[in-house]
Amino acid sequence: MTLQIKSIDEYHTEYARSVADPEGFWAEQAATFRWHKPWRQVLKWNFREPNVQWFVGGRLNITENCLDRHLETRPNQVAILWEPNDPKRKPRKITYKQLYGQVCQFANALKAQGVKKGDRVCIYMPMTPELAVAVLACARIGAIHSVVFAGFSAVSLADRIKDAQCKVVLTSDGNSRGPKNIPVKQVVDEAIALGCDSVEHVIVHQNTGDPVAMHSDRDIWWHEAIKGKRKSCKATIVDSEDMLFILYTSGSTGKPKGVVHTHGGYMVYTEYTFRNVFQYQPGEVYWCTADIGWVTGHSYIVYGPLLAGATSVMFEGIPTYPDPGRFWDVIQRHKVNIFYTAPTAIRALMAAGDTWVKGRRMPSLRVLGTVGEPINEEAWHWYNERIGKKRCPIVDTWWQTETGGILITPIAGITPLKPCYATLPLPGVQPCLVDANGNEIEGNDVEGMLCLKFPWPAILRTTYGDHERCRQTYFAAFKDKYFTGDGARRDADGMYRIIGRVDDVINVSGHRIGTAEVEDAINKTPRVVESAVVGYPHDIKGQGIYAYVIADGPVADEAAFKKSVLDTVTREIGPIAKPDKIQVVPGLPKTRSGKIMRRILRKIAEGDTSNLGDTTTLLNPEVVEEIKAGAV
Ligand code: WT7
Repeated sequence: MTLQIKSIDEYHTEYARSVADPEGFWAEQAATFRWHKPWRQVLKWNFREPNVQWFVGGRLNITENCLDRHLETRPNQVAILWEPNDPKRKPRKITYKQLYGQVCQFANALKAQGVKKGDRVCIYMPMTPELAVAVLACARIGAIHSVVFAGFSAVSLADRIKDAQCKVVLTSDGNSRGPKNIPVKQVVDEAIALGCDSVEHVIVHQNTGDPVAMHSDRDIWWHEAIKGKRKSCKATIVDSEDMLFILYTSGSTGKPKGVVHTHGGYMVYTEYTFRNVFQYQPGEVYWCTADIGWVTGHSYIVYGPLLAGATSVMFEGIPTYPDPGRFWDVIQRHKVNIFYTAPTAIRALMAAGDTWVKGRRMPSLRVLGTVGEPINEEAWHWYNERIGKKRCPIVDTWWQTETGGILITPIAGITPLKPCYATLPLPGVQPCLVDANGNEIEGNDVEGMLCLKFPWPAILRTTYGDHERCRQTYFAAFKDKYFTGDGARRDADGMYRIIGRVDDVINVSGHRIGTAEVEDAINKTPRVVESAVVGYPHDIKGQGIYAYVIADGPVADEAAFKKSVLDTVTREIGPIAKPDKIQVVPGLPKTRSGKIMRRILRKIAEGDTSNLGDTTTLLNPEVVEEIKAGAV
């Protein structure tokens, strides 16, 4: 057994072992953690119901493995290195011992507010260390956290609070992002006013110092809540399969689903993947630029790095503030060894010009990573040459909210790299490609829909409150397989390249957005009769949002009408879902059965109208010409 793969031969041996004896393989990895009771059985599973359980009967608390066990070996090592939005402010360095104290103290505060094991706690906070403390404090007492990205609107927040029936909401007064302060507490107030009856308390962290309205019977300041609370708190020991968190994510239909992850498997998998993919070495400084509001932040800012005892940098700001040299400045100042970011950020900084990187020395860098969307070849090379100076391997990590951790990726410095390829599955991961009939496509140099045929420890267990939806979405398309929603190609060497979503999900700047969700929002705009949303290639964002909108009659002031569409989407979902382009159309191309022909709309949005295929069978073929003529 090996805890850290050291060569490509070792990778192949480990991989073969993980397929031949998955239970033995994962039992050995799991044995490195602190358990209060060993598991009776490593794995129980079927993809029919689905029902997947790892380390069955085992009892533990993930935070003992993130915190307590490091107190003996690295109490004074920095656990969280916080870089504020404003570069003139001092970074905060929180050691493992301090983090332990803060988590315990806040866990005690949560208990005092009535939070118990199994209760859901919604966390709507900006990227301050208190956000990480909040997450861990929930886990400490067996409460289930549901982090909502602090850029979502009050309506979206309310939907999520209601779906999970959260008892407490944790928030901040405001969020400093770039030059702006965004009022966060106000959004929480608006959300709760939309009928979140389950909420008993709101705990407010003072961050920006902006004035906020406090409801005396419901709201309490963070600093008041922790006053006099002890800095130790016995961890609530939970079952391996007890819920750790819910994280909402978009799909092709309906409202976002609450993806559920559990304590045991998620712990083993995020730590294993963090340590191996990045080849983390003790003492290294690691920086993932994601927001904890997304799964990347959960698994690879908080849990994975802390489980492995790493120093995890947490950044409050944005890549271009105060200027597009910010990332490189942070890497230099904090001597970052491992840097993990999104292709959209790389493209934006590349577009800002080389002056921001020229002359900058970043000798500390050892490994670079990307995540969230396909990286284009130009951005890959720029990252490799300008940032990594051709001496840092780039790990293009493919995974999803539902997978909990990285599944297909190079192992830094070990797997041969190929630009734009996520390359090979990690040990324990069994991908396959299937055709439209559900048949597995064997051999190499092939393309198909990406599925997984065996569970790994961090696979989602259910979608909160609706197990049937989980089955339908991921396990019903292909028998005995988990369907990812992505298309992929496997090259002659067996390496995987992720092509992109094959469903009605678009990936905007690495954020997953369901077209149906945006359409529902647009349709709430006054005078809008119907709409259709598709993705189109966008230089910086990867994909942009193109909305075709039908109004109830002639639109005299198109600019004002479009603005009202944008305002509605911002109100219903948040600024991240705002269409980049809006075209007011007289109708939408439909089949005789009334289905919108998205294929045609996608082509027009892409600016490729040369071959729209046969449109004569449409209910309203004449509308296609009109849409083509009015394309924006
Ligand atoms: C979707 C999952 C994984 C954490 C962030 C996004 C796309 C993700 C890659 C990659 C190409 C990628 C897929 C996937 N995706 N990583 N390295 N190369 N595409 O998590 O919001 O759940 O989105 O992001 O389409 O299905 P998510």
